[in-house]
Amino acid sequence: MTLKRVAVLTSGGDAPGMNAAIRAVVRTGVARGLEVVGVRQGYSGLIDGQLQPLGTRDVAGILQLGGTMLGSARAPEFQTPEGRDRALRGLGQHRVDGVVVIGGNGSLAGAQALAGTGFPVVGVASTIDNDVNGADITIGVDTALNIALEAIDRLKTTASSHQRAFLVEVMGRNCGYLALAAGVAGGAEVVVIPEVEMSPDAMADELQAAYTRGKRHAIVVVAEGARWDALALARHFEKHRERIGFELRVTTLGHVQRGGAPGAFDRLLATRLGAAAVERLADGESGTYMALARGAVTPLPLQQVLTPKPPPDRELIRLAQLMAR
Ligand code: F6P
Repeated sequence: MTLKRVAVLTSGGDAPGMNAAIRAVVRTGVARGLEVVGVRQGYSGLIDGQLQPLGTRDVAGILQLGGTMLGSARAPEFQTPEGRDRALRGLGQHRVDGVVVIGGNGSLAGAQALAGTGFPVVGVASTIDNDVNGADITIGVDTALNIALEAIDRLKTTASSHQRAFLVEVMGRNCGYLALAAGVAGGAEVVVIPEVEMSPDAMADELQAAYTRGKRHAIVVVAEGARWDALALARHFEKHRERIGFELRVTTLGHVQRGGAPGAFDRLLATRLGAAAVERLADGESGTYMALARGAVTPLPLQQVLTPKPPPDRELIRLAQLMAR
């Protein structure tokens, strides 16, 4: 079937670079002779029929903006067959014959369900969590990592003045990648991630050792999905304050990591993946998502996102420990 009209939507937690991906879908789609429509508020907008035509001028000036011009949402209704039926009816009413879904694991699982009904769908891997199975790195990760690093660098200077240890909590849902990468690149003394079991007492020992070695500051990067969050760890460490030596403070970065302008890496990645997604959809492909895999823009089966990503590289974990000396 020759596609005439394709829709693009962003879903789940936003990520810096989503706008660049929308722009790439629209401009590449139009260059291929397609009509492109934007869906507002992710899958909810598909169900409610919130679709608007998007031309090349409508996506001007968004490349450098964080967030998503289309809005995003988590839509539990779309997880039900009834919700998907309503979405399919809406797509039919708007004469849409293919969809590009830009988002992370949950959004791509929704894309897989839609593709399973026979409707043409291609996904684009975009989430700061870097937890999409098969993708080396997803849109938004690099920017979020740089924001975490800037925060860690700043915290180190004030920590040194007061000989304090900072527990810095970073996002990532159940995946420790952001915390691990920020820990290695930010020179953390301890990195706490869900994939590696470590007791709070062992962490306290590491802090004490750092203090004894004469360090003026210590950084503990804690992944939000780790068994203990930063506040719980700080409460535990507080009981051993005398032994640890450092005064303790907690900083939770939260959504700061998700907001703001995408960096060069994410703009480039989003442009490459968005363009490839709509081109492949126009060529008749469906049931895949575009990701950077082994360094190349690659179509991967959507089915793959239903399986969890393997744990982070052991070598990076080893380096995190080695560099904390
Ligand atoms: O998936 C992206 C993410 O930012 C996670 O890192 C975090 O756990 C979650 O979304 C936060 O969700 P919300 O924006 O709904 O609070």
